[in-house]
Amino acid sequence: MEQFHSKLNKQKREGSGSVSAQCPSNIALVKYWGKRGNQIPMNSSLSFTLTNSYTETELKFKPKENDGYLVNVYLDKNLNEHFAPRIYTFFERIEEYIPFLQDFEFEIHTHNTFPHSSGIASSASGMGAMALCLVQMEQNFGGNLSEEEMLRKASFLARLGSGSACRSIYKGITVWGESEFVENSSDLYAVPYPYEIHTVFKVFQDTILLIDEGQKEVSSSVGHKLMENHPYAQQRFLAANENLGKLIPILKEGNLEEFGTLVEHEALSLHAMMLTSNPAYILIKPNTLNVIEKVWEFRRNTSANLFFTLDAGANVHLLYPENEREACLEFIQNALKTYCSKEKFIKDLTF
Ligand code: DP6
Repeated sequence: MEQFHSKLNKQKREGSGSVSAQCPSNIALVKYWGKRGNQIPMNSSLSFTLTNSYTETELKFKPKENDGYLVNVYLDKNLNEHFAPRIYTFFERIEEYIPFLQDFEFEIHTHNTFPHSSGIASSASGMGAMALCLVQMEQNFGGNLSEEEMLRKASFLARLGSGSACRSIYKGITVWGESEFVENSSDLYAVPYPYEIHTVFKVFQDTILLIDEGQKEVSSSVGHKLMENHPYAQQRFLAANENLGKLIPILKEGNLEEFGTLVEHEALSLHAMMLTSNPAYILIKPNTLNVIEKVWEFRRNTSANLFFTLDAGANVHLLYPENEREACLEFIQNALKTYCSKEKFIKDLTF
């Protein structure tokens, strides 16, 4: 971990200023579910970084006298009391690597391009943007990291804020978690996917159906924790690691059918873990299942390559290739929109 310790000297820093950064959300194809120690994943995961769904953050700082952290978070210009505790936990975890967190009073101004109540996790893009701001700040104080080192450190820090956030630092396809199949992969930070990607997967569509706008009943942190004594956990971690290996030739050859089978299996396995936790919980809603049935029916009746994946929530991410955009969007409009809360969906795509 030595490489992430700051090379800045320990003196108290002064002056005021601001830094800003943008960071997109991501959608996992192979899911991270279960962690140990200091945000170490129990299996490797792989995701598509999105384009239109991102967080913009400005981090303002001014000197302060006393020790301790002082942070105020503004979401869309409104002071939000709920976010500060999460930032304090994040600061405690990264203090070792960012030496000036107690020198300043911080104001975080943040905005998501996707609706706040949409149920889309803003933790990946939000923590990613915060990590990028802090690395930028360190650099402005004389940090002297190369571009590559900056991104790696941002990914390392983002992981300590929210695991999946570390994958959002890079565009395209990203891998997090040490995998025998991916050279230079690490539990500590994400790496850009290093192998050949068929053109069909270079730009892939992700239309996010907003099934439920309510607050999730069980948070991801509680969900990860419930994997600790889960009867099927070991099998799940093995399967996820193997699935990452299986995706490599699929991504190279552009095999859409195998892609869909694997990605949907991953999504359903994630929710199967929730259904079989103790205590059990269910994050999908009746309309999540209605959409899945319609997608399967659509595939039986057409040759469309339209697949679903799920996050830790009720929303459905629909994945399909660029050249099938028109037909899939028409189907979404005509057959699926009705299952969305207020008929809302977000058109996004990978880089
Ligand atoms: C289902 O990254 O939100 O989206 O590390 O506790 O912040 P924390 O969890 P988080 O978990 C995301 C889980 C997931 C799958 C994934 O993105 O890989």
